[in-house]
Amino acid sequence: MCGIIGAVGRDDDTLDVLVHGLSKLEYRGYDSAGVALADESVDICKQAGEIDELRAALEGRSIGGSVGIGHTRWSTHGPPTNENAHPHQDCSGDVAVVHNGIIENYQQLRDELVSAGHTFRSDTDTEVVPHLVEEQLRGGTDPEAAVRAAVDRLEGSYAVAVVIAGVERIFAARNDSPLVLGLDDETAASDGGEQRGSAYYLASDVPAFRDHTDRVVYLDDGEFAVLGADGWRVTTLAGEPVEKRVDTVDWDPEETGKSGYDHYMLKEIHEQPRSLRQSLSERVDELGGSVDVGELADLNPRGVQFVACGTSYHAALYGAELFRQAGIPAQAFRASEFATSPPPIGDALVIGVTQSGETADTLSALREAQRRGARTLGVTNVVGSTVARESDHVFYIRAGPEIGVAATKTFASQLASLNLLALGMTSTDGAREIISALRDLPGQVQEVLDASAAREVAETYVESDAYFFIGRELNYPVALEGALKLKEITYKHAEGFAAGELKHGPLALVTDQTPVFAMVTGDGELAQKTIGNVKEIEARNAPVVAVTDGQSDVERYADHVLRIPETHPRTAAVLSNVQLQLVAYHTAALLNRSIDKPRNLAKSVTVE
Ligand code: AGP
Repeated sequence: MCGIIGAVGRDDDTLDVLVHGLSKLEYRGYDSAGVALADESVDICKQAGEIDELRAALEGRSIGGSVGIGHTRWSTHGPPTNENAHPHQDCSGDVAVVHNGIIENYQQLRDELVSAGHTFRSDTDTEVVPHLVEEQLRGGTDPEAAVRAAVDRLEGSYAVAVVIAGVERIFAARNDSPLVLGLDDETAASDGGEQRGSAYYLASDVPAFRDHTDRVVYLDDGEFAVLGADGWRVTTLAGEPVEKRVDTVDWDPEETGKSGYDHYMLKEIHEQPRSLRQSLSERVDELGGSVDVGELADLNPRGVQFVACGTSYHAALYGAELFRQAGIPAQAFRASEFATSPPPIGDALVIGVTQSGETADTLSALREAQRRGARTLGVTNVVGSTVARESDHVFYIRAGPEIGVAATKTFASQLASLNLLALGMTSTDGAREIISALRDLPGQVQEVLDASAAREVAETYVESDAYFFIGRELNYPVALEGALKLKEITYKHAEGFAAGELKHGPLALVTDQTPVFAMVTGDGELAQKTIGNVKEIEARNAPVVAVTDGQSDVERYADHVLRIPETHPRTAAVLSNVQLQLVAYHTAALLNRSIDKPRNLAKSVTVE
């Protein structure tokens, strides 16, 4: 939800570094983009549209400076126009600001600044910041103190970065929106073989500068950073020094490229065998029939409440079922609802499931749980993310960087990780069979990827009016996820239902123009009941696509079959979901949609 980049200390390529960084952050927003470079004056270029529009706008322009900031936007205040694109400036043009988040008291600040004679050019909340800085500078405050004083006036969520003409520094602050510093302060050979000194970066996320350094410092809420070619420091907003740990990221820059695939989403779907192996590696003792979840094994929760959003909420529904199967009362809540009207928590462990670790609704729910005295566990993909740092405990799903806005490999790794947690924290019947199924899972995902008929199914139904997905128990979250993926990237109407619920209303929507995807695995009572629902659908002339392991006779009633290998019901859910990911992907490709950057969406939603 908006991406920020900043760089200082580069030789002559600050602009290139900024634009390249923005291209790596486009998954966070792509309504408009812009850059500001400062030396004795501040040069700005900003443009509505994706980064390529900014590149075109920069062509032929001489824009330079040794200190720079950039931004790619996901609109919250005002439409995606050139005027509303970041960076925003003060009246003099000497101050430029990029911002991610929402400034809740902006109207009051704006009224105050307008009364003091400031002229505003945009509809954004952000524009109050450069004018607040300008107001301080006019009063004779030095630049750093001016930015601190301006930030101190802000209420709401923000990651801000500020440059000022004649000041070879970037000032940055965060509250409820992510910011990470990148340190490249060992003298190193530049591309031309020359030696250069120190360079420092800041960004909403590491991929923005990962090509230049792997050493990072995660800012916490209430912190203020100053970056110059001569060094960096972090303090509280009030100026108290803060000692920060320097971390090293353990993934390669190549991992954020497309590796020859047309889209990040397709690449990430195909990465699932590897990401699942990473999730499971060194955590499963197949011979001993146990899993190792470290200190979490001692938590002994008497109840579990999951909080999550979107795809992660579907993983949470699945996780809650696993804990219930082990005899632990467990429920999954939509984080946005939990945050404002939490249920009685008692002594339940509250588990936040979030790929990014930065989703504002999930953070709010976890904070509310902590405020009520609950223990919290963050299940996330992003090391050093806010959820990872704020939760009492953290479990990493280790899926590797995911760039496509539509979550794919991280959902699979969430499901695998939730299996590990449920096995490691409870006494689950049949643990050996589950562990053995988990071991086979990466290879079976590969089998599905190699032989899927999803493209033919997509071609057959690409013109359909709407798509429905049904499943029971562990296949119910898969039905919801299949529908979310399809609607997210194809813009077509899609809904997932608990299979038994169809006859209580949604069946009225079913026609010969609405294919129904039915997840039917095994041949037990659940499968038979779902087959009963399939027959009801067939009787209304709706096409049926069965996602099945072939154990039941559902194929008799299906128009198409998407086959998965026979396995445990827990891992069958992961395999069925891979088929649905491929259907969504191929349908979107046939419709020529913007698959990696669907309209109106952002990868990480850092506003409530
Ligand atoms: C998934 O395809 C979506 N992009 C979205 O639903 C996402 O899962 C949701 O916003 C939660 O994000 P998180 O996992 O980073 O918290």
